[in-house]
Amino acid sequence: MKKILYIASKNPGKILEYKKLLSEVNCQLVLQPDFIEIIESGKTFKDNAAIKACEVSKKMKNYAIADDSGLCIEALNGKPGIHSSRYADNDQERIKRVLSELEGIEDRRAFFIANVCVASPVGELVLDIEARCYGNILLQSRGNNGFGYDPIFQEKNTELTFAEMTDDLKDKLSHRGKAASKVIPELIKIFSDI
Ligand code: IMP
Repeated sequence: MKKILYIASKNPGKILEYKKLLSEVNCQLVLQPDFIEIIESGKTFKDNAAIKACEVSKKMKNYAIADDSGLCIEALNGKPGIHSSRYADNDQERIKRVLSELEGIEDRRAFFIANVCVASPVGELVLDIEARCYGNILLQSRGNNGFGYDPIFQEKNTELTFAEMTDDLKDKLSHRGKAASKVIPELIKIFSDI
């Protein structure tokens, strides 16, 4: 029987995302039960990913994986940062807010960051991975794919926005894709030993 890996999230979409991402890992992915309430009280992406993974693993007495990601803009001292998903009411408003805060500012450097943490069945952090994707914030949106801040984030090397990329290209270059490629070999090791 396959060992369980809980996904520390209540978002049902995460199951599909992780199933695709971790298809080479010998584990059964299960979404955390609804009764677990976690307050993301950390000051960093890593803290929040660690809090989620450790809480769920301790409560479920199984391995758990969690991620936390967002957009950090240099000229805004790292904002929206850990507040990326709550920066305004919806994606369009969030983009509007970022563009207005950057009005007249020449330095448009920004990066997406993803932290992924895995905790053991006793709630101990066993894996802590960070990956970044660097680029610039455009003056206006470009492209129709993706979600969140994708249309205003131009990746440094390709000069394409995330919203102009195919899913495959974004998976290769994005913070999330890079984090996944670091996580997979580690998880394969963990799940082959138990
Ligand atoms: P989460 O931690 O993956 O839920 O991401 C938090 C928030 O960061 C999202 O709601 C988006 O606003 C933003 N974000 C994270 N990753 C991306 C991305 O790849 N493209 C666009 N926005 C993102």
